[in-house]
Amino acid sequence: MNKERRYYPAFHLGPMAGWLNDPNGLCQLSGVHHIFFQYSPDDPRGGNKCWGHYETKDFVTYRFTGTFLEPDTKWDRNGVYSGCAYVKDEQMYLFYTGNVKHVGEHDYVHSGREANTMLVISPDGVAAGPKECLMRNGDYPGNLSCHVRDPKVFLHQGRYYMVQGARTLADEGCVLLFSSMDLRRWEFERAIHKPEFGYMWECPDLFWMSGKAFLSVSPQGLASEEFCNQNVYQSGYFALGKWNTAENISLGDFYEWDYGFDFYAPQTYEDEQGRRILLGWMGVPDAPYDHDPTIEEGWQHMLTLPRQLSVDDTTGRIRQTPLPELSALRVGLLFASRLEGKCMERTMECGYELLLSDIEGPFVEIDFCDGLTFVYDATLATCRLIFTKDAVGYGRDERRLRLASGKLSNLRVFVDRCSVELFMNDGEEVMTTKYFPSESPTLRLRACALAQAWELAEYRVLNLKS
Ligand code: FRU
Repeated sequence: MNKERRYYPAFHLGPMAGWLNDPNGLCQLSGVHHIFFQYSPDDPRGGNKCWGHYETKDFVTYRFTGTFLEPDTKWDRNGVYSGCAYVKDEQMYLFYTGNVKHVGEHDYVHSGREANTMLVISPDGVAAGPKECLMRNGDYPGNLSCHVRDPKVFLHQGRYYMVQGARTLADEGCVLLFSSMDLRRWEFERAIHKPEFGYMWECPDLFWMSGKAFLSVSPQGLASEEFCNQNVYQSGYFALGKWNTAENISLGDFYEWDYGFDFYAPQTYEDEQGRRILLGWMGVPDAPYDHDPTIEEGWQHMLTLPRQLSVDDTTGRIRQTPLPELSALRVGLLFASRLEGKCMERTMECGYELLLSDIEGPFVEIDFCDGLTFVYDATLATCRLIFTKDAVGYGRDERRLRLASGKLSNLRVFVDRCSVELFMNDGEEVMTTKYFPSESPTLRLRACALAQAWELAEYRVLNLKS
């Protein structure tokens, strides 16, 4: 391990250098999965946003091809913001928001900001056609603030649709729905919103699984409650039902994708096998990350593991499970034993995968290191992730969830150098969190369960830019 970059992930995607946020332009083309992301290569604290680009065929070996799009036109000079890919005729149609900020006395909510809907066509995520500006502020409905962004495009019943996130002048978050026959001329169809549900919605995504439509959004401005909305901003989804026949789409319950400290702006795509795959940003905007020790290492933030989505027919909710390809990272079994409630202690090298199955008894307690503890309480059907040491959590305290199924039957955890991703009950709930353990942390486990752990190999990343 490189001493200077002791927290750099072994099997998550981080920026080669600098800053990373949202996953963008996710798609698969001719066998290759493309993973673009919000990227500021020169500054680990963020800066003008570009798109960086990774590609992979198997989710174990990756190629980093560098910066794909930079803010270099009058339409995007203050940031190549988030967007999506639509694959057509062996090409990626990449839509994004060109962010422009005017100099002057502006609040950049009501004035001073342009949100241009942009298109670039690419065969491979390296070569880029000309930047085309498709829509400008004047093309959006008149009741909106300057906050309109993050286009996501899909085909439905022979017509193209685009969703964008927005903030109205009345400070309501909403999704704008546009349609098109040619991917270039877009007509506004309608806005989708839920009363009193935040002032801005970012990064919308509309997709179908098992014949049902779902709308994923990242709302800002939701009040925090004991078991939900615990971060400064959230990400979750609504089940839409018959969205295409109703004039007004009414949104039902909102389910958070992830209950950990660090998760935001996920995007999904359908791969060539028809799987719906989700990646999220392991970070949250405006959360206090200034203390993040990776900044001194010259980088900040990661993407989550790729997660395969499926609909649970009994609950109608979406499960998330790590992509099966990730099992290829297992290089050796570290232990497999039946635990009967006594404490088991091991010194661990990161990364590893821990699986608890056949969970019984009143509790599960896992110290991932001296400073980060997971606690399941069977009486309350709750899970808590608790930072007990500031040097590990940097001012963070605790995140909680109440298990939808009433009990914890199994738990699968991916532990990387500075992150843990916990999948409860075959992915019914997930908690993703960054943490900063000392070297070779001690794992302490107390549970009545079958416990197995595997050492995980590092991703192979070919850096075509260094
Ligand atoms: C979400 C977000 C997007 C925006 C991008 C800019 O994290 O704020 O709405 O396009 O990040 O980096």
